Amino acid sequence: MSEIVKNERRGAVALLTLDRPKALNALDAATLEALEARVAELAQDASLRAVVVTGAGRAFAAGADIAAMAAFGAREAGDFSRLGQRAFAALEALPVPTIAAVNGYALGGGCELALACDWIYASSAARFGQPEVNLGILPGFGGTCRLVRRVGVGWAKELVLGGEPIDAELALRIGLANRVFPPEELLPAALAAGETIARKGRLALGAAKRVIDRGQDADARVAQALEQEAFAAAFASEDRAEGMAAFLEKRDPVFRGR
Ligand code: CAA
Repeated sequence: MSEIVKNERRGAVALLTLDRPKALNALDAATLEALEARVAELAQDASLRAVVVTGAGRAFAAGADIAAMAAFGAREAGDFSRLGQRAFAALEALPVPTIAAVNGYALGGGCELALACDWIYASSAARFGQPEVNLGILPGFGGTCRLVRRVGVGWAKELVLGGEPIDAELALRIGLANRVFPPEELLPAALAAGETIARKGRLALGAAKRVIDRGQDADARVAQALEQEAFAAAFASEDRAEGMAAFLEKRDPVFRGR
């Protein structure tokens, strides 16, 4: 089961690869369970600093598996949605930065998977979309919620209600993709970003990510209170002492995550 989602270590960065290329990495229950298992392993790994998520072959993921869903009734669909949402929420909650390296189609559940990552790097060959309305359904793995937050309600509605894919350049323009690379440069760029992150203070990264994510769900006053609390807590860390001492001594810091 676990080989459907490969987990390779590249230094301090984990590279998760969806590996069902014949089905364009379509997300069936087994793939979602494998992803969840991989994420659970990563959550236990204290030496991990960043995660890159990508797809094998010409797709990132072409969506939830339509062949599997064809036989679903409402109850099975609800269970499937719950499984996908749980797996993506676990990925989103990892305490280290996660980067989606979108190499090709990121449609439906594939686009939703990319949205569960902290940011998205795209190949110039990537295509994004929420084509569910063409099947008489709607996004079920958190897309309606995360897409609105990433690109705003207007573009989210055009993508979800319009059901047509967009290319990488438009994805860049609307803030869905952070950067676009020639295909052969995508993975090296995502891994290099992970390596750069690996040199930062892990505690500070985890706290900043948590505050941004929780702050999005809170009103501005609560969000700023969360920030203040985390800012104060950072000053009790060895990493903070090291980071500031290194700056003043004009050397590179060595963070230990303490
Ligand atoms: N589910 C199951 N199988 C899929 C799939 C999917 N989402 N997407 C592609 N495949 C399979 C195809 O059936 C085909 O299999 P066979 O070779 O056995 O026939 C193989 O992958 C290659 O696909 P195509 O031959 O269709 O390749 P193409 O280059 O002609 O087209 C594509 C590529 C435009 C991505 C097209 O495959 C496509 O439109 N896929 C479906 C995209 C989609 O609708 N995604 C949303 C799914 S619903 C969803 O995700 C709900 C949710 O939010 C939870």
